[in-house]
Amino acid sequence: MTKPNIHPLLADRWSPLAFSSKPIDPDVLASLMEAARWAPSCFNEQPWRYIYATIDDAAAHAQLLSCLVPGNQAWAAAAPFLAISVACTTFAANGKPNSYAWHDVGQATMSIVVEAMHHGIFAHQMGGILPDRVRELYAIPANFNPVAGLALGYYGDRAQLPEALQTREAGPRTRRPADETFFLNRF
Ligand SMILES: Cc1cc2nc3c(=O)[nH]c(=O)nc-3n(C[C@H](O)[C@H](O)[C@H](O)COP(=O)(O)O)c2cc1C
Repeated sequence: MTKPNIHPLLADRWSPLAFSSKPIDPDVLASLMEAARWAPSCFNEQPWRYIYATIDDAAAHAQLLSCLVPGNQAWAAAAPFLAISVACTTFAANGKPNSYAWHDVGQATMSIVVEAMHHGIFAHQMGGILPDRVRELYAIPANFNPVAGLALGYYGDRAQLPEALQTREAGPRTRRPADETFFLNRF
């Protein structure tokens, strides 16, 4: 329970390890993609791109899974939707570096995460990806950078996880207090 109360879409969000393999309906997936499309971005550059695979295409799903570090593969294999976000690091207008690219990719991903919660779908983001492998497998151009992994799916059966992951899944979620994050008139 958050204090003060915040919207359930935010309060109930967390990053599970136990995913059900139940596929996500294509209409729902379209909503998640639409949510990302309408994220804000510097100069409306929309620097986000996503390479994704769904579990009904086993080969594509396995290929995407192979771009995650082994520790993430262990649980993400069950997730019916896997993606890698990719940032366009230059502005289309002048080719100069877009220093907000990663920031804006994060915003688009959070839009997906919140829209997913609205549909009862959980998300687990991952820094543990293999960027060089992503670049090679999917022929990512030089001015794009792989950013993070994203697993989406309905909550599964915690008991199916390896024991170490069950312990992690049951662990407490913590945050530092708000007054160590927000500073009125000072840093
Ligand atoms: C950019 C990013 C990278 C993350 N990388 C990983 C990861 O590689 N493996 C993992 O299991 N969780 C990863 N996480 C999940 C975080 O550990 C998690 O969001 C954090 O502990 C807070 O927990 P909560 O999302 O349940 O509130 C990542 C989250 C983000 C946003």
